[in-house]
Amino acid sequence: MQGKFITFEGIDGSGKSTQLRMVSGELRGRGLDVITTREPGGTPLGRRLREAFLETEETVSPLAELLLFAADRAQHVELLIKPSLAEGRIVISDRYADATFAYQGAGRGFPETTVKQIIELATGGLKPDLTLFFDISVEKALKRMISHDESDNRKKNRMDAETGDFYSSVRDAYLRIAEKEPQRFAVIDANGSVDEIQSKVAAIVTEFLNPQNPHRTKIG
Ligand code: TMP
Repeated sequence: MQGKFITFEGIDGSGKSTQLRMVSGELRGRGLDVITTREPGGTPLGRRLREAFLETEETVSPLAELLLFAADRAQHVELLIKPSLAEGRIVISDRYADATFAYQGAGRGFPETTVKQIIELATGGLKPDLTLFFDISVEKALKRMISHDESDNRKKNRMDAETGDFYSSVRDAYLRIAEKEPQRFAVIDANGSVDEIQSKVAAIVTEFLNPQNPHRTKIG
C-alpha cells in the first residue's frame, strides 16, 4: 500500500518545525509508521549541501541557490521519500517544493514557468497528499527569528538576513498556492499559542488519515 506524503510549510519563524515534532510524536504514539524529514538536508548528501549553500556567509548566486534546492530535492525524493512511500509509511517533511515557488519564485523573482520546470525535473511530478501552511504575520515571524537567534541552537542561515518585504512576497505566494489548491493545502493560523495550533494540526492530520471518520471537518 502506498504511504502518505505530508509537508509543512511557512515563512521562517512560523513555528512549523515545533508543530511537526509534536504531531509526529503523537502519530507514532498511536502506532503509526511515521518518518520525519526536511528540506534541504533530508539525506546525507542534502545535509552537506545545506551546510555548503545555506548555512554559510558566502555569497550564493540566486540561480545556484535554485538549482541546489532542486539537487537536494532530487536526492531526497529518489532515496528517501519514494522508497518510504512505497513501504506504506507516512512521510512528513519540513518543507518541499512549495518553498521553491514561494522563496525562489516570489522571493528571488524567478519566473513561475522556470521554477515549475525545475521542480518537475527534480521531483518527477511527486506532489504531497497534504500540505499544512503555518500562516503567521511577517512582523511576528521577524520578532521570533530574532529571539531564536538569541536563545536557540538552531543554525543561522542566509535567509535570516532577508527583509520584511521579502517575507511578505513569500507569504503571499504560499497563500496563492493555497487558493489554487484548496484540496491539498490547509492554512493554519499560526499566530496563537503552541497548544492551540497543535490541536488544529492534530485535527487536520487525523481527519486526513481517517477520511471515513463521520466527524470530518473541511480542510482549509
Ligand atoms: P528551515 O529548514 O529552517 O526551514 O530553513 C530552510 C531555509 O531555506 C528557509 O529559509 C527556507 C529556505 N528554502 C528555500 O528558499 N527554498 C526551498 O526550496 C526550501 C526547501 C527552503
